[in-house]
Amino acid sequence: MDFTNKVIVVTGGGSGIGRACCYEFAALKGAVVVVDRDEKGGEETRHKIVADGGRAEFFAADVSSESQVEDLIKKALARTGGIDVLVNNAGIQRYGTATTTSAQEWDEVLDVNLKGAFLMARYTIPAMIQRGGGAIVNTASVQSVAAVRNSLAYVVSKHGLLGLTRCLALDYAKNNIRANCVMPGAIDTPMLRWAASLDDHPEKVIDACNRLHAVGRMGTADEVARVIAFLASDEASFMTGAAIPVDGGLLVPVGGMMFQESGTGAKKA
Ligand SMILES: NC(=O)c1ccc[n+]([C@@H]2O[C@H](COP(=O)([O-])OP(=O)(O)OC[C@H]3O[C@@H](n4cnc5c(N)ncnc54)[C@H](O)[C@@H]3O)[C@@H](O)[C@H]2O)c1
Repeated sequence: MDFTNKVIVVTGGGSGIGRACCYEFAALKGAVVVVDRDEKGGEETRHKIVADGGRAEFFAADVSSESQVEDLIKKALARTGGIDVLVNNAGIQRYGTATTTSAQEWDEVLDVNLKGAFLMARYTIPAMIQRGGGAIVNTASVQSVAAVRNSLAYVVSKHGLLGLTRCLALDYAKNNIRANCVMPGAIDTPMLRWAASLDDHPEKVIDACNRLHAVGRMGTADEVARVIAFLASDEASFMTGAAIPVDGGLLVPVGGMMFQESGTGAKKA
């Protein structure tokens, strides 16, 4: 994969999966536009890429603010001359059910995780069309196709992101723009460590996160970034509207457990 002469915008590039994406695209010779509302994290990502001989710009912006997104894309285009790839990755997690989630928390999660991706697409796609095409990759989640308890707003936002991915794929195929998403399982990032820290026994949460996956461990941000880079690359030229699990088999074991419990297969193995 080679992103020479390509400009890649990554939201949430100041931490975790987004930062790993920025490093991956820079290593593949792309010019990276790091976007994050956290100035320190975003600037650190930019600085490391440039220190390693790569090309990167950082723009501080809140993806849930239409005026900030519009301004950011204008500034990014003025600096880079065009945008080829958009990675909608910025996201937040809040916990609660329909009766314990406040309307404010609902808005906060939906605004960042879903409206943010819509706004970024809205203001980036015209630049991609001018360039003759492009690729959008959304960081969805296994929670785009499966619900978990006590995670209402997040699950709804990630289900919505899958719908957004599919609509973008249909609406802009004629413009040579592909849109896909990845559905990571539990990935060891600052977001996951923060979520574990909310529990009285964070180490038990980490242990449970490892055991969720068929492979017996969480994923790393790099493992997700490599799939995102593939989907953004010309190697994936016939892929659009796809939702790719990057989940160590998390979505598989339901069937596997049924076989083990019935004894079928286990005895033959
Ligand atoms: N870590 C996991 O287990 C996991 C699993 C599935 C999906 N995801 C998704 O992956 C994405 C990245 O998560 P992560 O684990 O790397 O989290 P993270 O918290 O390490 O990084 C998220 C980054 O997004 C930035 N951000 C948050 N709100 C923003 C906003 N309004 N505008 C601009 N930037 C904003 C944060 O400042 C941070 O730098 C999220 O969309 C998350 O939902 C994570």
